[in-house]
Parts: sequence; C-alpha cells; structure tokens
Amino acid sequence: MEKSAHAAAAKRAKPVPAAAAPIRGVFVTGTDTEIGKTLVSCALIHRLRSFGLCVAAMKPVATGNVAEAEDALALRAASGLEAPLKRINSFLYEPAIAPHIAATRAHRRIDLRRIARDYERLAESADFVVVEGVGGWMVPLGQRLMLADVPRRLGLPVILVVGLRLGCLNHALLTARAILDDGLILAGWIGNCVEDPMLAQTENIDTLKQRLPAPCLGIVPPLAKPADPRLASGHLRAANLRRALALGTEAR
Ligand SMILES: Nc1ncnc2c1ncn2[C@@H]1O[C@H](COP(=O)(O)OP(=O)(O)OP(=O)(O)O)[C@@H](O)[C@H]1O
Ligand SMILES: [Mg+2]
Repeated sequence: MEKSAHAAAAKRAKPVPAAAAPIRGVFVTGTDTEIGKTLVSCALIHRLRSFGLCVAAMKPVATGNVAEAEDALALRAASGLEAPLKRINSFLYEPAIAPHIAATRAHRRIDLRRIARDYERLAESADFVVVEGVGGWMVPLGQRLMLADVPRRLGLPVILVVGLRLGCLNHALLTARAILDDGLILAGWIGNCVEDPMLAQTENIDTLKQRLPAPCLGIVPPLAKPADPRLASGHLRAANLRRALALGTEAR
C-alpha cells in the first residue's frame, strides 16, 4: 500500500515537459480568387511587424506560373525573412487551375504532413505566421481533402477577406457560415475594394458589419496600381486586430 502510494507520489513528482507554446498564426481566406488575399495578407504582415512581431508567411498550396511564384515572393518580401520559396509554397502547380486537378495532372498528392512540417519550420524563426489560402473557402485539395483541413491541421483561426463588389454579401455570408460549420474560428473580416467602389458600398459594409459573426478589422480602399501593401496596412485597425488575434499588450 505504502509502496504504491510512494510510486504514485514519485509519478506525480516526475517533471512533466512543459507543453510547447502553441505556434501563433492566422489563415487568410477570401470570398473568391483575385479579391486581394495576397495584398491583405501582406498588409497584415506589415501591421503585425509594426507591433514589434517577427512575422513569417506561407501560401502552402498555389497554382499558376511556377517560375514566378508571385504570391510567395510578395509574402516573403512583406515578411522580410529569407525563407526558401519551396517552404512558403509547399505545393505549387502550373497552370492556374483548381489545385486538386493540377495535383492529379502532376501525379503529386497534396499532403497535409508536408504543409505542417513547412509551417513549423517557418514558425521557428518567427513570432507569428500568416498563411494565405487558395481561391475561396470550399476548395478541394484532393479526393477527400479540403482547404479547411489546412487551418484545422495547423490550429489556426481564419480571417476572411471580402472583395467588395456586387454579390459580396452572398459570398461573405456563405463563406462565414461554411467556416463555422467546418468547426473553425472566424477571427475577423477585412473588406477590400479590389475594383472601383461598388454602388451603395457604405450600406453593403454596414450589412456585413451587422451580419457577419466576427469583427471588421479594416476596409482597404481602391489603391493606385500596383497596390502597395504598406499603404493597405494603414487601413487595418490595430486595436481590433490585437483583440481578434489575442495579441494582448505584449505587441508594441
Ligand atoms: N485595394 C486594392 N486596390 C488596388 N488594387 C488591388 C487592391 N486589392 C487587390 N488589388 C490588386 O488586385 C489583384 C488581385 O489581388 P491579389 O493578388 O491580392 O488577390 P488574391 O485573392 O490573392 O488572388 P489569388 O486568388 O490569385 O491568390 C492584384 O493585382 C492586386 O494588386
Ligand atoms: Mg493570392
């Protein structure tokens, strides 16, 4: 009896390794392709860096011009960290078609473990990781794999970029519902005027504010082309971002 009590006490006394601090980051999705996910992700990186954080970036699945790796280059430039492009783009396929189709054509399956490994390596040199999605939200990545499996695997909350144009209410509300249905956290949304301001833009933004189940983290106006992410970052609301991403007061 005494022996087993002793053993239990010894077991309790055994040092338990401290749980690794969770890697902090956010997954950026959009209401569609070409609505400003990269611009807003880069803006977000600049904003987070202005808080004093060291920020890595990733776009784990991309399709398009392999030689240019446009999004990866823009994200890396914003982050200022010298990460290898093949780690920023775990899977990059040509041409610009749906990722699961591009992967099938390339006989190369998109693998979550590889994405998680690349993410962890990027996170080693950073306080925070901004991960850009691909296309919109309900994007198949494989026979059963969906884009939502990426933020789920990485344990990331989601920020939704809403391309402010006719139809955005439907796209934004459907996307928000799908994010929640997938069991993920919608940390906030950012409106982006990828085109000239839409008709009744103020009313549309008000409607989004009332109906989306997450705070508005900023509205980026139409910017002179090529759009400068530093300028866009000035339109993100620091206090809302800190709250949404649970950055507390440690970030300056
Ligand atoms: N607010 C804005 N003002 C002016 N141009 C913008 C704005 N937002 C985005 N753009 C431009 O629109 C184009 C598409 O933006 P971006 O590449 O960020 O979209 P995306 O959603 O990341 O696209 P993809 O689905 O290909 O990843 C880019 O040329 C970008 O510079
Ligand atoms: Mg992009």
